[in-house]
Amino acid sequence: MAPTRAVIPDDFELPVDAFDIPICYDGDLSGVVIPEGLVRDRVRRLAKDIHAEIGNKPIALLCVLKGSYKFFTALVEELTNARSSCPEPMTVDFIRVKSYEDQMSTGQIQIMGLSNLDELKGKSVLVVDDISDTGRTLAKLLSTLHETGVEKTWTALLLSKRVKRVVDVPEDFVAFEIPDKFIVGYGLDYNQKFRDLGHICVMSPAGIEKYKSE
Ligand code: HPA
Ligand code: MG
Repeated sequence: MAPTRAVIPDDFELPVDAFDIPICYDGDLSGVVIPEGLVRDRVRRLAKDIHAEIGNKPIALLCVLKGSYKFFTALVEELTNARSSCPEPMTVDFIRVKSYEDQMSTGQIQIMGLSNLDELKGKSVLVVDDISDTGRTLAKLLSTLHETGVEKTWTALLLSKRVKRVVDVPEDFVAFEIPDKFIVGYGLDYNQKFRDLGHICVMSPAGIEKYKSE
């Protein structure tokens, strides 16, 4: 049975003013959907669920940049703790995927930084991504990995959006299921801004306008 996800209801938002937000993002946000502390708590349990499922196999952790950089770091830390008595090491690898501009998927998925992908040949790979909505990006990445000769893949996602999938893709380990809203923070961007924001937030109309691409 798939591990339990933490489901965020449609109307759940906490007031931005109740949190410590960097001054550069003043007025750009309209609500906090998931505070950073809650992400850390959830990732700790997710790591235990992953370890229970995968066990003491050697695994390669693949960070899908840029969006999952914070989630990846937290997950590696927690997995290291969860696997402390495991005789097999974990390795880390990085890949870059791009598909979004403004709040829209461009439909064109670019996979970059593939140079060391051959190193994953024959390995069991845990793909660590920030968000799944249409499923297209993750599906493309998984098929690329299998074409490269990766033996087995699992997916670990920080967020799974409640939207209809265009492509069915396995979501093995999901930290949070979220409503269909464009969110930023904890690695997720709007035109490259807000990745450094700790909390996962909804943007205000002023913020959307301010950082719109030309
Ligand atoms: N926010 C940021 N990046 C994204 C999102 C989102 O809601 N969905 C897909 N990429
Ligand atoms: Mg993005």
